[in-house]
Amino acid sequence: MKSIKNLTLKTMVVLTAIIAFYACGSNEQKKEEPTDSKELVKEAEEVQASDENKGVGKFTNVEVSPTLDKQMADAGKKIYDVKCSACHRLTDEKLVGPGWKDVTKKRTAEWIMNFSTNPDEMLDTDAIAQGLLEECLVRMPNQGLTDDDARHVYEFMRENDGVK
Ligand code: HEC
Repeated sequence: MKSIKNLTLKTMVVLTAIIAFYACGSNEQKKEEPTDSKELVKEAEEVQASDENKGVGKFTNVEVSPTLDKQMADAGKKIYDVKCSACHRLTDEKLVGPGWKDVTKKRTAEWIMNFSTNPDEMLDTDAIAQGLLEECLVRMPNQGLTDDDARHVYEFMRENDGVK
């Protein structure tokens, strides 16, 4: 039990450090250290995937089809345009918050939907969210999404990440 705890703690610390450094970093930063940063990010993503971090909030088990639900994605895009685009680009470029490119590959559906609907609690408790905050220096305000809104925006993020 203790060793598992230690491992998880270690993982979180490493993840936080990596994410704090790269998540909102400019492209220039990436160019300066091409190989190392790529490997570090890849490592972080593998750890992330195996950790299955779901964040905190009401979403504990989101069913996601391997194919895109175009209707949901279209509904999600409308929400993005109105409520998210002021701070999030669809590329990997940071605006106020991180760009969304590949976010669905780095995080679980539950983590993303929990963060989208419950940013305050996540920013207080989740190591990844805190790493992002350290870089972005702005606490994402709660956007008042319904559960369906959150699911739809998640589907739109999947479309943005190439799911067909
Ligand atoms: C006022 C600016 C702002 C708006 C509007 C905003 N966000 Fe954010 N978002 C942020 C910031 C800043 C972060 C990084 C974490 C932090 O510092 O709070 C973030 C992080 C995120 C993340 C995590 C990204 C990652 O790389 O893991 C998700 C998911 C997210 N926002 C979803 C949304 C959704 C969905 C909307 C629209 C409904 C939205 N955001 C609107 C500022 C914003």
